[in-house]
Amino acid sequence: MDTMIADLSTILFDECQIRTRIKELGFELSKEYAGKNPVLICILKVAVTFLSDLMRYMTIPLEIDFMSISSYGDSSVSSGIVQIRKDIDIEIKDRHIIIVEDIIDSGLSLQYIIDYLHKHQPQTIKTCVLLDKPDAHKIDIEIDFVGFQIQNEFVVGFGLDFARKYRNLPFIGVLKEEVYK
Ligand code: IMP
Ligand code: MG
Repeated sequence: MDTMIADLSTILFDECQIRTRIKELGFELSKEYAGKNPVLICILKVAVTFLSDLMRYMTIPLEIDFMSISSYGDSSVSSGIVQIRKDIDIEIKDRHIIIVEDIIDSGLSLQYIIDYLHKHQPQTIKTCVLLDKPDAHKIDIEIDFVGFQIQNEFVVGFGLDFARKYRNLPFIGVLKEEVYK
């Protein structure tokens, strides 16, 4: 753990702050979706950590499903060209969908997923993301539920990785530039 922490310039949100905010989101979603039996669609792999906490703070009946996508092109810059590696299993026609995603950078991956899921004709689609970088958006994208807004910095921990590392840090920190440049 210490060697991973040494690669961080700051800790942005500690375990307690993350838990408190996810709890608030869980209650907010429970109120909004009462009686609607929503489907939470988690985008693998990163958002698994977020989903597992979020769903336990939701007090209404719900279902979960998973999608896995991969972005092509330069790995540090999102190309918006996305391939679906694992599709949803549940029939979502006429259902209420909440897309659970870890972080929005350019917004291109999320937009692709929204457009794709619309083809299945759900009743509604809303988005719930743990972290949003508003200054990095490349398209006009509306996110319905946001955990925290952050600056345009590269963050890791709580599921977020750099080169598959740091996912298991229980908090969210900023990666030192020299580590990824
Ligand atoms: P977008 O299509 O540019 O919004 O890309 C979003 C995806 O890029 C996220 O789901 C993450 O997998 C990855 N990503 C963007 N910013 C970060 C970051 O700061 N840390 C780790 N992964 C990130
Ligand atoms: Mg992602």
